Order: sequence, then C-alpha cells, then structure tokens
Amino acid sequence: MYLILFGAPGVGKGTQAKLISAKYDIPQISTGDMLRAAVKDQTDLGKKAVKIMSRGELVPDDLILDLIRERFSQPDCDHGFILDGFPRTLAQAEGLDELVAEMNLPELRCIEIQVPDEKVIERLVNRRLCDNCGADYNMITNPPPADMKCTICGGNIYQRKDDNEETISNRLEVYTRQTAPVKEHYQKKGQFFSVDGQMPVEKVQEAIQAILNN
Ligand code: AP5
Repeated sequence: MYLILFGAPGVGKGTQAKLISAKYDIPQISTGDMLRAAVKDQTDLGKKAVKIMSRGELVPDDLILDLIRERFSQPDCDHGFILDGFPRTLAQAEGLDELVAEMNLPELRCIEIQVPDEKVIERLVNRRLCDNCGADYNMITNPPPADMKCTICGGNIYQRKDDNEETISNRLEVYTRQTAPVKEHYQKKGQFFSVDGQMPVEKVQEAIQAILNN
C-alpha cells in the first residue's frame, strides 16, 4: 500500500499513520520526525532546519526531496509506505511524482484528515511527548504524571518547541498558503479522499480503513 496522509498540523496524521503502519507492516515516513532526529543529532540538515522549524516555516524542497529519495531506497519501503507530513508544497508533490515514476510504484492515494483550526490549536498546545518512545500525552485528555516520566518507558516527557500558540498559528498559515494547494494536485488525479478527524481516534481509523478497503 502506498499512501499519503494529508492535512494541517495536529489533525492526527501521525496518530493514524502509526495504526496503519502496525496493521499493514509498512513504514510510517514522517518528514517531521526525520527532521527532528537530524536536529537532535546536529547533522548538516539538522543545523539548517532547526530555526526554520522553530518558526513553523517549511524546510527547503530540495533538502526534503533528498531526504525522501534516500528513505525510499531502504528495503523496508519495498512493499509500501505511509507518508506523513509530505508532500507539503506543489514542488514536493511534483518531485514525488517523478520518484514514483522512476521507481515504477503504483499511484499513491491521498487521504486528508480534516479538523477545524481551533480544535487543532487546543490539541497541540496541550500535547506532550516522551523523548524516548514517543508516547503521546495531553494535558487535558491524558495528562502525564507529575514527575513528567513516561508511564511506558520512564523517558522524559517534553513539549515540542513548535507547539506554542504563536508558532502553531504560523504553521496553520503556512499550511493554508503553501500546503493546501497540494490537495488539488491529487484531486485532479482522482486519488483524493477526506475523513472527519474530529471523531475519536478509532472512528477516524475506521473511516480511513473504509477508503483503503475500496
Ligand atoms: P510535522 O512534524 O510534520 O508536524 P505537523 O504537520 O505540524 O503535524 P503534527 O505532528 O503536529 O500533527 P499530526 O497531524 O501528526 O497530529 P498528531 O497525530 O501528532 O512538521 C514539523 C515541522 O517540520 C514543520 O513545521 C516544518 O518546519 C518541518 N517539516 C516537516 N515536514 C516538512 C516538509 N515535507 N517540507 C518542509 N518542511 C517540513 O496529533 C496531534 C495531537 O492530537 C496528539 O496529541 C494526539 O494525541 C491528538 N489526537 C490525534 N487524533 C485525535 C483525535 N481523533 N481526537 C483527539 N485527539 C487526537
């Protein structure tokens, strides 16, 4: 299966990608996670990306396309993948088309998850994550323990630097300006579907499964 999960920051792309990845045993390819790993490891890419990400802007297309090309060449991508947070610009979508043609992959399906901005802001300002296993906490719906140690692995629970109100609102603006036009690219191919991301996680997953089963 070759799938793109599309949508604004915080709509639940990562949450749903992990469930599909476990079910079909194909990798979740999150450009955001790959960039955060590069920042942590202080690679050349990480050094270029760190300030851009903290402002909520987009990392240049050529750097992202190099990252994706390298990732697709790894053996775990042989039977499919789920793209999470990529493509985010028309240039990235066109670069992806070229890679798909070059690698002789089937046409990608693109599923958009839709959530209103005010809900997204509430989700993201309250999100907390484990720095070791990535477990997801939420100050309102699933608060972390007082010692801020992960209940699964004991790792430290932290807040993403870009999960503050100012950066979130810039991420949403960048999405509207630069990423939303990508939707039309996949609509024209007849491979675009939408689900309501305001439902509980399991219901959103069921809606995605219904599209995948067709
Ligand atoms: P990235 O890491 O991709 O962040 P994002 O797109 O802003 O998305 P998030 O990870 O914040 O949200 P999500 O949709 O995955 O939601 P999640 O499942 O976590 O990108 C970060 C930065 O990296 C960018 O700003 C940019 O600088 C750079 N970058 C990345 N890719 C790039 C690219 N291709 N080109 C250029 N630059 C790039 O859920 C969010 C919260 O909601 C969680 O707490 C979760 O538990 C909760 N939640 C999920 N589903 C539900 C539900 N159904 N009901 C209630 N709560 C829910």
